Amino acid sequence: MIVQAEALTRRFGGVVAVDNVSLGVGEGELAAVIGPNGAGKSTLFHLISGHLRPDHGRVVLRDRDVSSLSPDRRAQLGMAIAFQTVRLFRGMTVLENVMVGGHAWTRSGFASALLRLPSHHRDESQIHLEAMRALRLVGLESAAHNVVETLPLGVQRAVQIARALCGRPSVLLLDEPASGLRSAERNRVARLLETLRDEGLSMLLVEHDVAFVTRVAGRITVMDRGKVIAQGAPAEVRRDPVVIAAYLGQERGSSPGA
Ligand SMILES: Nc1ncnc2c1ncn2[C@@H]1O[C@H](COP(=O)(O)OP(=O)(O)OP(=O)(O)O)[C@@H](O)[C@H]1O
Ligand SMILES: [Mg+2]
Repeated sequence: MIVQAEALTRRFGGVVAVDNVSLGVGEGELAAVIGPNGAGKSTLFHLISGHLRPDHGRVVLRDRDVSSLSPDRRAQLGMAIAFQTVRLFRGMTVLENVMVGGHAWTRSGFASALLRLPSHHRDESQIHLEAMRALRLVGLESAAHNVVETLPLGVQRAVQIARALCGRPSVLLLDEPASGLRSAERNRVARLLETLRDEGLSMLLVEHDVAFVTRVAGRITVMDRGKVIAQGAPAEVRRDPVVIAAYLGQERGSSPGA
């Protein structure tokens, strides 16, 4: 396993947002977590990324317990993240935005890049190469010099994913990469994830759109009210009566049968 969440629990006051959840992402696997609104998906995501600490349980990255490490340390050890909301630097080009991702894994770091310190220049050409490689992977090489805010949201998502890939992570965590997108853009993101999966990248996808997830994921963990209610291949999970009931009970317009 590349990443394992082991019996993670996190409470917020009286709410058990994540309740004893375990899952793993194997080498080259695209695993997914789905669940209705408030199921605990984002909380689980942040427990794995290190942006939240669990009350119980641990996170293991390539056989190393990273539970007490900061998000930055986890990133340096190979855990890349694409957050739910697009966080790109406006006024910068696609390439510049992707290069920001490269500074996470060089010695000089992001701060010295912003300050343009001397150590920054040593790493710059290497990062440039890496960023162009990441842009090729997501099919955006030709848009490298476009300013990001002129691009459609679906393309901005791809830029964000390229940024996460700039540093050759061993796993990519994606929080709702299709949220807020129209269906054509959704398809574009789905095809991108399929391409990355075919390239052998290990990914963990958190998403509430069941149709999107069943299309791209090899294995699905279904959460409801903090707990795992099903785990398995997309076809199995889709016809699981417990899963159907959870979705029908809490969400309109996104049933697993859709
Ligand atoms: N920082 C917080 N403080 C208090 N309660 C929180 C906090 N974050 C999440 N919760 C609660 O924990 C539960 C799980 O929330 P979470 O955001 O993880 O669900 P989700 O599955 O990501 O939902 P969505 O599909 O809406 O993104 C909810 O009841 C939520 O209100
Ligand atoms: Mg969420």
